[in-house]
Amino acid sequence: MKHMNIGILGMGTVATGLMTLLSDNKEIIERKSETEFQVTKVLVKDMNKKREVPLQQEVFTSKIEDIIDNEEIHLVVELIGGIHPAYEFVKKALKNGKHVVTANKALIATYGEELEGIADENGVYLRYEASVAGGIPIINTLKNSVESNEIKEIMGIVNGTTNYILTQMSERGLEFEEALKEAQDLGFAEADPSSDIDGDDAMYKIAILSYVAFGQPMHVDKICKEGITRISKEDIQYAKELGYTIKLVATARKEDHHLEMMVYPALLPMKHPIALAQNEYNAVVIKGNGLDDIMLYGKGAGALPTGSSVLNDMIEIAKNLRDQKKVYNRVKTQDPLLVDNKGHRQYYIRLDVIDKPGVMGQLTKIFGEHGIGLVSVSQLKRSEMVAPLVFITYETDQKMMKEVLCDIKKYSEVLKIASILAVES
Ligand SMILES: NC(=O)c1ccc[n+]([C@@H]2O[C@H](COP(=O)([O-])OP(=O)(O)OC[C@H]3O[C@@H](n4cnc5c(N)ncnc54)[C@H](OP(=O)(O)O)[C@@H]3O)[C@@H](O)[C@H]2O)c1
Repeated sequence: MKHMNIGILGMGTVATGLMTLLSDNKEIIERKSETEFQVTKVLVKDMNKKREVPLQQEVFTSKIEDIIDNEEIHLVVELIGGIHPAYEFVKKALKNGKHVVTANKALIATYGEELEGIADENGVYLRYEASVAGGIPIINTLKNSVESNEIKEIMGIVNGTTNYILTQMSERGLEFEEALKEAQDLGFAEADPSSDIDGDDAMYKIAILSYVAFGQPMHVDKICKEGITRISKEDIQYAKELGYTIKLVATARKEDHHLEMMVYPALLPMKHPIALAQNEYNAVVIKGNGLDDIMLYGKGAGALPTGSSVLNDMIEIAKNLRDQKKVYNRVKTQDPLLVDNKGHRQYYIRLDVIDKPGVMGQLTKIFGEHGIGLVSVSQLKRSEMVAPLVFITYETDQKMMKEVLCDIKKYSEVLKIASILAVES
C-alpha cells in the first residue's frame, strides 16, 4: 500500500464532505487506489472555530507555508474558493512539486491554462472535476469518455441556486425576491448571491466545459451572459401555459468554425431533458456526432456530492502514480474557432398592449414585414384595458430581432415590451 500525505486548504462545506467520505469509504478508496490518504495539514482562517471533523488540533494551521513548503505533503486540495489568494497558493504548490485538486471554478476559468502549464512543467497533476456541476462527472466524461466523437454542443443547467429559485417560482408562484430569500434561509444561496443570480458562476463553468470539449482557450470575457434577476412570476406563469419552463441555461455550440458561448434564461419545452432538473439539481447534455445526445444529471453542489468529485480526482492521481503514467494536464488544443454570439434562436416576446381589436393583427404584420415567422401568438388574461400578448418566433438572428423591436416600440398601441427571452427547442 502506497502512502499519500494530503494538505487541505480550507475546512468548510466541501472539505467537511471530503473528510466524511475519506472516513466512511476508507476501505473502498484504499482497495481501488492501493493508496492510504493521510490528511496531515489543514489551512484555515479562524483557528478558534470548532470543526466537526476527526482531526487533531495540531493538524490545523493558519500559515500557508506549513503546507505548500512542506516536503512531506504530496497533494494539496484547494477548497478555500475565490481567485486570490487561491491562485498564488496553487501556483506555489505546483511549483513545489505537489499535485493539486481544486473545486474552484473562478480560479480555473481565469487561470486554469496557466496552472496546467505549470503543472506539466513540474511533472505533477492538476485536477478540477468538482469545479463544474458538483457531483456530476462532466469533465472526466468530456476528457475520457466521448473522445470518439466530434462534440457539437454542450447545454446545461449548471447552477443549483438559480435552478432552486426558478423551480420555486414556478411551483409555488413565488416572486423572485421571495424565492431568493427562501433559498438563502435554506443554505442554497449565499448571503451575497450575485455570482449565482447574475450568471457569473454559470459563465465560469461553461468556460471550463468549452475549453475541455473544444480545446479552445478559456474565454470568460467573450461569453455573452445574463442572469435571472429580471424573470418575473408572470413570465414563468405564461411560459407554463404555453408548455414551457424557464431555466438558466449555459451553452457552448460549435458550428463550422464558430463557437457560441452563452449563459441566459430560456424557455425550455417541459419535456426537454434538462428541464427535468428541479431545485438544486443540475443536468448537462453533450451532443456528439456519433452519440447524438447524452445527459448527465445529479446534485450540482453540497458537501458530499462535491466532496465525491474531489475525492475521485485524488484517487485518479493516486492510480496514475501507481501505474507510473506520464503526467499530462493540458487539454489538446484544436483548430482555433471564432467566438461569436450571433444568437440564431427562437424568441419569446411579451408585450402589454391596449386591449382593442386589430392590435394583434397589426403586430403580426410588423413581424411579417421583418421576415420573422411566428410559431404562436397568444393573448393572455386581460387586466382592465391592458392585454398581455405573447409571441413565439421561429429562429431569427439578433439583428432582425433588434429591428423588429424598434418598430414595435413605435406602434402607439404598445404600452410596454414586458420581456424578451430565448426559447430552446
Ligand atoms: N459548497 C458547494 O456546494 C460547492 C460546490 C461546488 C464547488 N464548490 C467550490 O468549492 C470551494 C470551497 O467551497 P465551500 O463551500 O466549501 O467554501 P466554505 O464553506 O466557505 O469554506 C471555505 C474554507 O476556506 C477557508 N478559507 C477561506 N479563505 C481563506 C484564506 N485566505 N486562508 C485560509 N483559509 C481560508 C475558510 O476558513 P474558516 O473556516 O477559518 O473561515 C473555510 O474553512 C469553492 O471554490 C467553491 O466554489 C463548492
